[in-house]
Amino acid sequence: MDHFNYRNGELFAEDIAVQDIVYKYGSPCYIYSRATLERHWKAFDQAFGEHAHLICYAVKANSNIAILNLLARLGSGFDIVSLGELERVLKAGGDPKKIVFSGVGKREDEILAALKIGIRCFNIEVSGELDRINLLAGQLGVIAPVSFRVNPDVDAKTHPYISTGLKENKFGIDIQQALTEYRRAAAMPYINVIGIDCHIGSQLTETRPFLDALDKILDLVATLKAEGINLHHLDLGGGLGICYKDEQPPEPAEYIQAVLARLGKTCPESAEWTGFEILLEPGRAIVGNAGILVTQVEYLKPTAHKNFAIVDAAMNDLVRPSLYSAWQNIIPVNLQSNAEETTWDIVGPVCETGDFLGKDRPLKIAPGDLLAIRSSGAYGFTMSSNYNSRPRLTELMVDGSSLHLIRERETIAQLWAGEHLLP
Ligand code: LLP
Repeated sequence: MDHFNYRNGELFAEDIAVQDIVYKYGSPCYIYSRATLERHWKAFDQAFGEHAHLICYAVKANSNIAILNLLARLGSGFDIVSLGELERVLKAGGDPKKIVFSGVGKREDEILAALKIGIRCFNIEVSGELDRINLLAGQLGVIAPVSFRVNPDVDAKTHPYISTGLKENKFGIDIQQALTEYRRAAAMPYINVIGIDCHIGSQLTETRPFLDALDKILDLVATLKAEGINLHHLDLGGGLGICYKDEQPPEPAEYIQAVLARLGKTCPESAEWTGFEILLEPGRAIVGNAGILVTQVEYLKPTAHKNFAIVDAAMNDLVRPSLYSAWQNIIPVNLQSNAEETTWDIVGPVCETGDFLGKDRPLKIAPGDLLAIRSSGAYGFTMSSNYNSRPRLTELMVDGSSLHLIRERETIAQLWAGEHLLP
């Protein structure tokens, strides 16, 4: 459930008319709903009840510091993949002890910064990373808490570009080799092995692949235990899908109950299995449906073959449709229209055939009308670029009847700040 609804034919973000927001801040812009964001985070957190857990929001989904700060205030942890994300979380008041660091290519400076601030855990994805972390921790005289991200070779049944848990994917350590790495790690002086991690993909709409991955992980955990390597936490990654069109992904509570049930079933008598702290790294499921991208129709261009509605947002602002052929709902901000319903391709001004936001959408629209592209809170702004020298957009947060500017529209001059002419 989200808080973008029509009232008398006008789209509202919580208690504010979207049209009024655009009058004030211009188009295009991203608009987020605080109530939706917080509701989604709490759905994950509360589903665990008394079971030890930490929700580590995946910063890459939406990294605006206002959003990170709201989540930090709820007690959230964070899953980061770069020094930039680390610095953002700290700037937003996030607790270093609740940060897990994922990513296949952690540089030395990134590892050093994370060691110095004392993060919760490194999710190691490649053998050489273990040696690098041990060496750097030794130089600093600290002990690095680590887990291995194992690749369980499970089909997440999602788009191939966002599937990460198959053996042909670059992510994680092959589950067959993980034992060797755990043994190596356990013998290293500056490493403390505390967990195991996996993330099999994004926009999953079924529970089964998660449980299949969990089963494989639990097998490995049992083997490790028999060797005297005892783990404190299981990190099951992110990946829970959302409804863009007609998908029916499990609710967070349903997914979490299934995980807890599986842990209980594995060994019902033993607190050793149910005693693991569970970490999750959801991104999309928290922020995806908490945001819309609002854009204005500039021109209508009916042709003999296709009808194009040319809008002022483009693939550089929201790349998901172009990159993954992702379908996101496009709705009018104002339902009152005298226009005829026509089927439109909603396209941007960027010089690429792939620059579209939606295809074959039946809409009653005229130039000047505003459209809202739904489910744009995750992987929207964070994947935006300056292609075609287009400044990045304003971001706004609605909180009931209050509106907050959380990112100013980039200026044209900022586009070349840092560029230099030759003498
Ligand atoms: N943890 C790790 C290690 C990840 O790589 C990801 C996402 C997440 C957590 C969060 O996954 P989520 O809960 O958001 O599904 N740009 C694509 C999605 C790429 C996801 C990358 N990794 C899209 O727009 O669909």
